[in-house]
Formats: sequence, structure tokens, C-alpha cells
Amino acid sequence: MDIILKLEDICKSFPGVKALDHMQIELARGEMHAVCGENGAGKSTLMKVITGVYKADSGNMYLNGEKVTIREPNDAYAKGIAIIFQETSLFKDLTVLENIFMGHEPVKKVFGVIPNIDYRAMKEKAQQIFEFLGIDKEISFDAKVDDLGVAAKQMVEIAKALTYDANILIFDEPTAALTSKDVRALFQTIARLKESGISMMYISHRMEEIFEIADRVTVIRDGSFVRTAAIGEVTEKELIAWMVGREMNEMYPKAEVEIGKPILEVKNLCKDGLLRNISFEVRQGEIFGVAGLAGAGRTEMAECLSGLMQRDSGDVEFYGSPLNVKAYREAVDAGFVYISEDRKKYGLSVPMTIKENLTMSILYKISKNGFIDFKEEENIVDDYMQKLRVKAPNREFVVENLSGGNQQKVLVAKALCAKPRLLILDEPTRGVDVGAKSEIHRIISNLAKEGLSIIMISSDMPELLGMSDRLMVIKAGTKVGELTREEFSQEKVLEMAL
Ligand SMILES: Nc1ncnc2c1ncn2[C@@H]1O[C@H](COP(=O)(O)OP(=O)(O)OP(=O)(O)O)[C@@H](O)[C@H]1O
Ligand SMILES: [Mg+2]
Repeated sequence: MDIILKLEDICKSFPGVKALDHMQIELARGEMHAVCGENGAGKSTLMKVITGVYKADSGNMYLNGEKVTIREPNDAYAKGIAIIFQETSLFKDLTVLENIFMGHEPVKKVFGVIPNIDYRAMKEKAQQIFEFLGIDKEISFDAKVDDLGVAAKQMVEIAKALTYDANILIFDEPTAALTSKDVRALFQTIARLKESGISMMYISHRMEEIFEIADRVTVIRDGSFVRTAAIGEVTEKELIAWMVGREMNEMYPKAEVEIGKPILEVKNLCKDGLLRNISFEVRQGEIFGVAGLAGAGRTEMAECLSGLMQRDSGDVEFYGSPLNVKAYREAVDAGFVYISEDRKKYGLSVPMTIKENLTMSILYKISKNGFIDFKEEENIVDDYMQKLRVKAPNREFVVENLSGGNQQKVLVAKALCAKPRLLILDEPTRGVDVGAKSEIHRIISNLAKEGLSIIMISSDMPELLGMSDRLMVIKAGTKVGELTREEFSQEKVLEMAL
């Protein structure tokens, strides 16, 4: 095998955390190499070591058989290694063209002396790259990056990597925030990159993707190398067992729950340009799924219900009384909790600790005579950390130093331990590993059994179909239908949503 990149004995520690422990990986020329592991296993850290974002404490890296040291991201670029981050590194207020050549603009000399940006060369090169990626008709060079959707931003990132003539591309959970249509487009692009000989590494928690596009897979657990295998020689079950170090069974254990009376009634909910006459009801103990494509209005609907956005018209009744909340705080007082798909915008305070985040909204429940019951607080936190397998040295660890998936677990745990009367979950398991995902589903299902009602918005079709008692499909701001558990199937839902 022709190995283009090789890492061996890589160690990297952060205070209190050994993120990489004698890790190794080999990337063959022209292959698509998947990297799998639980949340906090060290996948992102490994990619950051390769691209010079972090410096390894020890270990060796070889490029085309030669030992190299990568001190900073520019070293990586210069050697043809680029990473496509999940949270884009683009400058929102600049144009597409400005972004892709940022910091390495082609230069020409005016009057033979004064260096000046060579816009023509820039455009020519960008045009070639855009044509190669098949996005020349879709994305304009002059568009402001802020005005582009997630998928387009990601394409711009890929284009940017190609301006450095990258021949090794790294993708860190590129599909976590994409719709299924955009995932198809990305996979086509990846196929083209592969045809042209580019070697790629790919991190994802979605097993079906790995089996579709990868040639080989390397599993990492607790910062250590587990094994590398050709994708044709491994089953999904084996792969998961290597990741979690044990066998995993039932994936979507939805409990049978007796559904009660309607507790939330929404009639003709309208919001200018976003939502039109949406009506539905949610019953006690019910998990009410909301399906639809990105931009269909699912999140806006949730924001209107929870006071983050004001509806223009329509009636909402909660436990028999009209509900007109003007702010999220009021919704919480009424018994709602909303977990946003944007965990940093609402939900988590990342500079604070896991414990503070988890219990800040329930301190009044665990206080006696004005004093917080610290023992109980710690028990609650430890219980959730253990159930969801939050990977952190202790409960006082600050959230921003957790891996992406572990931040998501803390966000979900925070909502679950608040035990509201109505829980609205927007993409609850995005970026969460398979083990924790089924644990989150188990807890949600148990809460429903205790009588809590849940609205669940998700783009993860197996999750939505596996968990919901009933399902509403939204398209372009209107409700196009409702299906019961007996009626729904993936085909039916997609047909309605498209
Ligand atoms: N800057 C940091 N400071 C302290 N600890 C960190 C820092 N960055 C990462 N870690 C820790 O290193 C470990 C590995 O994190 P990493 O982000 O590499 O995980 P991951 O495999 O990418 O997980 P996920 O699937 O959740 O994205 C985690 O325990 C994390 O908390
Ligand atoms: Mg990660």
C-alpha cells in the first residue's frame, strides 16, 4: 500500500485529560479513511494535531515517508493538508472569493514594483475549482458568506482547501448539520475529489455513511488505537463494539406508554413569511415528532411556542389555559423546556462547569430552607454524567473543553433533569455517538412514561420514526400532514416533505 501520511505514537494531554495515548493511523494515497470512536475518544484532537492546530506532546508524523513537523495550520496548508471544520472558519462579512484566498492572495506587481492583489488570477483559479466541484452555477463569487446556507458554506471551505492545492483533506463531522439532499451533493463532491487522487479522512457518527463512502476505517477509544480494517471486512455491529468496548443491542427502545388527554393545543399558528396556519395537539405522555426539510419552519415553530420568537396570530392553549409567552423565561415558568439545535446560542453556558450548567435551572427544586442540598445536586449530576457517558475528568470540568458530542450530552441532560411538563427537543442527538444516543432515547422514553409530553424535531429519520407516537410533517411553513405510528414509514414522510 502506498502510504501518504503516517502518524505513530502520538500523545497529547490537556490538564486532567489524556486526549491521545500512543495513537497511530496510516492514510493510503487516494483512499477515503473513516475515523470512528465515541464522543471524547480523541478524533477531533487527532485531526487538529495533523493540521497543526495542536502540537502533539510526543510522537512522529511522516508525509510521503519523510518525517515532518507541523507547527501551525499554515505549515499544514503548505504541505497540502487541509481540514474542513464542522463549524466553519470563514469570515461572515467577506465575499466567497475573498474568503477562499484569505491570507494567500495571488499577487502581481503594478508597474513592475508595487505588489497588488491579482484579481484576475484569483478569479481564474476560483472558476476552475468551482467548475471542478460542480458549484460554479450555484455559488456566486461575490455572495457574502453570511448569506449562504450551511451546505454552501461547506463547499466554500472545500474550495478554499483546493486553492492551497491540498492533496490530503480532512472532514470532521461534515454531515452533522446537513439535510439528506445536501449530504448527497457532498458525497458526489467527495467522489470527484477521490477520482482526482486526493486522500481523505472522514469523521462521522453515522454508520451508514461510513459504510457507503469509506475504503478503510480506524477505530479510536479513549485516545488509543483500537484497529484499522477494510470496510468490506467489518460489520456495523463489530465496528460499534470496537468503539464502545462492549456489545450494543437494542438501538431504539421505545417504551409502550399510555397516551393521555391533549395538553397542548395549537391553532392556526402564523408568523409572517415563516409559518402558515399550523394546527396540532400534543397529548400527555406523547412523543410528537416533527419532520420536514431544513428551512421548512420546524425550528421557527418551536421558537414561537417557547417565546423566543413572537407569533403574528394563532392560539396556543396549555393545560386548558391560553398561553401567550413574550419571553423564554415565561415559557419555562409555564412548564416548557426547549433545547435548541444551536447549543451555544441558547442552552449552554460554555465557560461554566458541567455541574453549573446541569443544575442552574433546578436549584430551587433541590434547595431546603434556602440552602442548596449539595449532596443531592452532586448525585443528580453524577447520575446523568454516568447515564449519558459524559467524558470528562470530573463534574467541575468547563463545558467548552468538552468534545462536541459531550457538550450536546450536557445540553440534553440539562433539559431532562429539569423535568418540565412539555419538552421541545430540536435535533437532540446531533453529533452524539451511538451508545449515548440510545441512552438519550431510553431516558426520553422513560420521561414520556412518567407523563411528560415531548415535541421532537429531528432530521434523523430512524430516530424520528423510532421514537414518535405521532408525527407531523411541515413543508414551507405549512403542515402537510399527520401520521400515526402505525401509518408512518420513511418513504411516506419523505414523500410528504419533498
Ligand atoms: N482544549 C481542551 N482542553 C481540555 N480538554 C480538551 C480540550 N480539547 C479537547 N479536550 C478533551 O480531549 C478529549 C478528546 O476530545 P475530542 O474533541 O478529540 O473528542 P472527539 O473524539 O472529537 O469527540 P466528539 O465525537 O464528541 O466530537 C475529550 O475528553 C475532551 O474533553
Ligand atoms: Mg469531535
